[in-house]
Amino acid sequence: MNALTLLFERQSMGKLAWPEPTAAQIETLYRAALRAPDHGALTPWRLIEIRGENALGQLGDLLAEAERADTPDVDARRSEATRAKALRAPLVIAVVAAIKPGQPKIPNSEQLLSAGCAAHAILLAAHAQHLGAMWRTGPYAYHSVVHKGLGLGEHDVLVGFVYVGQPAGRTRDLTPRPLEDFVESWPSA
Ligand SMILES: Cc1cc2nc3c(=O)[nH]c(=O)nc-3n(C[C@H](O)[C@H](O)[C@H](O)COP(=O)(O)O)c2cc1C
Repeated sequence: MNALTLLFERQSMGKLAWPEPTAAQIETLYRAALRAPDHGALTPWRLIEIRGENALGQLGDLLAEAERADTPDVDARRSEATRAKALRAPLVIAVVAAIKPGQPKIPNSEQLLSAGCAAHAILLAAHAQHLGAMWRTGPYAYHSVVHKGLGLGEHDVLVGFVYVGQPAGRTRDLTPRPLEDFVESWPSA
């Protein structure tokens, strides 16, 4: 696929199906992530691979536990729906910004952006391989129960879960947006 076509046409796919991406496809996702721009070569990200029924089920349990921590009387049906969210795709990659604090020239915000670029690279590499992918946070990506369960440290920030699988939904027609709506010249005339 032409690189610009990929950049222009990537889109999220919420409906994802099995089979699991192959080992070679998954490796390609990680290799793309590793090319994220990275000031000072800090590699300020970690990728946590969650795949297979058991691991995805455990992620679902964690999401349900986070919900229960906030809403102890949550009903069983709702709890099961929350749990099922983790099983929407055969592969979930938790993208974590592994912030190295105290870098004189590389503020935490830059490191967070690098991790975001790594997540975007995964989306692009998925699309390039005709896989579907979607970056999600949902209500529990910022929850301490989830952070603890995934083993996040004090300086880790969960930037999101990238769900990956076989595209199983409809694609959208992407209408180009007028550039003048968000590109301006400086100084203004
Ligand atoms: C940090 C981040 C978190 C997101 N979390 C969610 C989410 O929890 N649920 C959701 O439906 N979309 C979420 N999105 C948006 C989708 O990933 C997607 O970008 C959006 O639906 C637009 O689709 P497109 O990527 O095809 O343009 C998130 C995007 C970002 C960047």
